[in-house]
Amino acid sequence: MLKAKIIATGSYLPEKRLTNFDFEKMIDTSDDWITERTGIKERRIAEDGQSTSDLAYEASKNALRQAGLEADDLDLIIVATVTGDMIFPATACLLQNLLSAKKAAAFDINAVCSGFVYGLSVANSFIRAGTYKRILLVGAEIYSRIIDWEDRTTCILFGDGAGAVILEATDGDSGIVSTRLCSDGSLWEILTLPGGGSKYPPSEETIRKRLHFLKMNGKEIFKAAVKALQTLVDDTLKENNLKPSQLSVLILHQANLRIIQAAAARLGLPMDKVVVNIDKYGNTSAASVPIALDEVVRAGKVKEGDYILLEAFGGGLTWASALIKW
Ligand code: ACO
Repeated sequence: MLKAKIIATGSYLPEKRLTNFDFEKMIDTSDDWITERTGIKERRIAEDGQSTSDLAYEASKNALRQAGLEADDLDLIIVATVTGDMIFPATACLLQNLLSAKKAAAFDINAVCSGFVYGLSVANSFIRAGTYKRILLVGAEIYSRIIDWEDRTTCILFGDGAGAVILEATDGDSGIVSTRLCSDGSLWEILTLPGGGSKYPPSEETIRKRLHFLKMNGKEIFKAAVKALQTLVDDTLKENNLKPSQLSVLILHQANLRIIQAAAARLGLPMDKVVVNIDKYGNTSAASVPIALDEVVRAGKVKEGDYILLEAFGGGLTWASALIKW
């Protein structure tokens, strides 16, 4: 049976760093508060003039180089993002153009921070069905353009970046083993960017009310995320007859170090099997899982046959997992 195998990874982080100490000079906060509550020490910020497709392009070039492929080898490009260059066209189409990937179809996925893992599931289905052989999947975000820099409860959390993978059809043993997608639209209000769409089209009033910035009820998200992730891990492992100890690497969406540590403790996984880079990059939303994956792959921390579990949660609410045999 056909499987989707990740044959290459890539990532790109803008050079500009914004540290907690920089925030101390901008708003009423402290390095101690941010570190203790979130685990974040610094985050990267895109340059003026850089847009999300530019970040996606850099990450994609790295992945293509690692795979030894040309853009023309791609059948499909999927970009998971909620901070695309424009409302339309899709950022995936802009990326296709930058790459000159003339043979590829292209579209975006919006599942907020779960977007990349949702994308893995979509790519996996296309490959298993025999529709496409080689897919570029990217998570790319510039949250620095949608956060309210006057709101200390949210502006300290997010960063910019992009991560990419190339998936290829294989009939070998390794590849994506299973994916699970979950949503609860009744909780949409706890994480939203309300302005600029058809409900609240841009107007002087929407700007005055700051509706074009991200709004989040952090406490509610925290509770919902911990609960959702517990069930998700249990269901994913059970479905695949795996024990937590059989996992070599756990990659959770990097939203809060306390959420990551709680998930690891519940599984009895030592922290050296759990990827943490939130201290360096903050929450990069749909880019967080592929950036972390690229880091462990490039550091040589995964070997053939290893089980890797990816998990994410985000606005929608959405949450999702992907189990991979490397
Ligand atoms: N600096 C200093 N003090 C602050 C800051 C700040 N940056 N932000 C809030 N505070 C204050 C609050 O005003 C509050 O003060 P008060 O007690 O006088 O009212 C106090 O600190 C405690 O605030 P809480 O909101 O209760 O802090 P909490 O422990 O819940 O931590 C946090 C907040 C870090 C946002 C946490 O709730 C969290 O991480 N939630 C999950 C968020 C998340 O995962 N979001 C991403 C989802 S993924 C996606 O789709 C984008």
